[in-house]
Amino acid sequence: SNKSSSHAFLGAIDQGTSSSRFLIFNSENLELVTYHQETLSSISPKPGWVEQDPIEILETTKLSIGVTNQRETTILWDKNSGKPLHNALVWLDARTQETVDFLLEQSGKDKDCLQDACGLPISTYFSALKIRWLIDNVPNVQKAIEQKRCLFGTVDTWLLWNLILNDHEHVHVTDVTNASRTMLMNIRKLTWDSYLCNWFGIPEHILPTIKSSSGIFGYISEGALKGIPISAVLGDQQAALVGQKCWTKGSAKSTYGTGCFILYNTGEDIAYSRNGLLTTVAYKWNDEDPVYALEGSIAIAGQCIKWLRDNLEIIPDAKSTGKKVTKKKIATSVEDAGGVYFVPAFSGLFAPYWRSDARGVICGITQYTTKAHIIRAALEGISYQTREVVDAMYDDSHVRLARMQVDGGMAENQLFLQMLANIVGIPIAVPSLRETTALGAALGAGKAKGIDIFTLDDEHKFPITMETYVPRITGSVRDDNFAQWKKAVIKSFERIE
Ligand code: G3P
Repeated sequence: SNKSSSHAFLGAIDQGTSSSRFLIFNSENLELVTYHQETLSSISPKPGWVEQDPIEILETTKLSIGVTNQRETTILWDKNSGKPLHNALVWLDARTQETVDFLLEQSGKDKDCLQDACGLPISTYFSALKIRWLIDNVPNVQKAIEQKRCLFGTVDTWLLWNLILNDHEHVHVTDVTNASRTMLMNIRKLTWDSYLCNWFGIPEHILPTIKSSSGIFGYISEGALKGIPISAVLGDQQAALVGQKCWTKGSAKSTYGTGCFILYNTGEDIAYSRNGLLTTVAYKWNDEDPVYALEGSIAIAGQCIKWLRDNLEIIPDAKSTGKKVTKKKIATSVEDAGGVYFVPAFSGLFAPYWRSDARGVICGITQYTTKAHIIRAALEGISYQTREVVDAMYDDSHVRLARMQVDGGMAENQLFLQMLANIVGIPIAVPSLRETTALGAALGAGKAKGIDIFTLDDEHKFPITMETYVPRITGSVRDDNFAQWKKAVIKSFERIE
């Protein structure tokens, strides 16, 4: 953050899977002053593989301050040349399935055998598996590791290494929230865990230093913001939790971006799920104690709408799925999904199943089915997955969520929000300020600079209002439909040989 004579402005880089954005908030009233967005491309060389160009990620963020980023995405680079040793392996990339199978077979353990240490199940999703794959399959990576030239980073680490020079030195750092997604950090000690590193065969010398989420990481070395400190780093889902003001134990938010991520604040308690939820660090401000969360991760949400647009070409743009209830909106031209169920398991299914072998299924199609039914089924599929996570949270905590705060691109879609309320069966609240992820990073940046943003939550200084969608179907209809959805999920596990 940068304090001018009378106002302090808080800036945030939001480096997501689909775009990089830079936003500036006024710290007096947390109003969004301005923002800029650059879209980002993905490379899909084979089914299930998803890469991005680390240089393009960097070029789209050459500005900024509080940093928030897509998590788990893995970049290895050469510390002498600064060049990436391979494209970034994106969190969605499922190529590491064989690595997962091999490690489980070799150890004779199950996927939850490391949960106590790192809070996560062994899955293609997390960075350790992606690093292992790169070591095993890219000779240049092996060589750079032997010669101690190789550095690992999630996207935050890569950006900071490139944006900051402290006394002419690059910084190789990450924050606890990003580190908690690698499978290599001990969730209690918040340090790299030798047992975990050995388990995956990953040398500790390639790993960055782990820091709190707020604090001065360094000063931007060039460009319009030269000299401005980067004073917060948070994984994007944790930043959204902060931006949604879910600062107390028991509050929860759900963000519908490329995927969907539901985070439930568990305060200073480290809660372990028996139902496929992740234990993750929510944030750690300066030298205060860390705050933890339980997370339900859903791989495909907005990505499914993109798929309808780009692969099936049955909608011209995402808005056509039903922002407003008018005749022009395709999905609202029919009353329901007509018995169609759509499980968008494009990259396997994450929470609560953690089945990398699951594949997408559209079932219940009849002569009567139109594209409008398929679109509605897609929106419902995202809602049913949310219900599965909310149910898992209830099973773990025995506390029913009173409501859920949502944000992300799909929170613009009124039809979707009503479906979500109907299917999950609790009120869905949408904040008037939708840029919650960037706001969370900006709030963190303010925390580091001593701007007491966490006292700004009276109506005058934190003017965010909520719009609420309440369930409009009966419990028995909800449960009958959900039972049908469960049958469709089972089909996503079946293979046609
Ligand atoms: O864990 C992946 C997540 O951080 C990606 O977020 O917003 O790009 O879907 P998003």
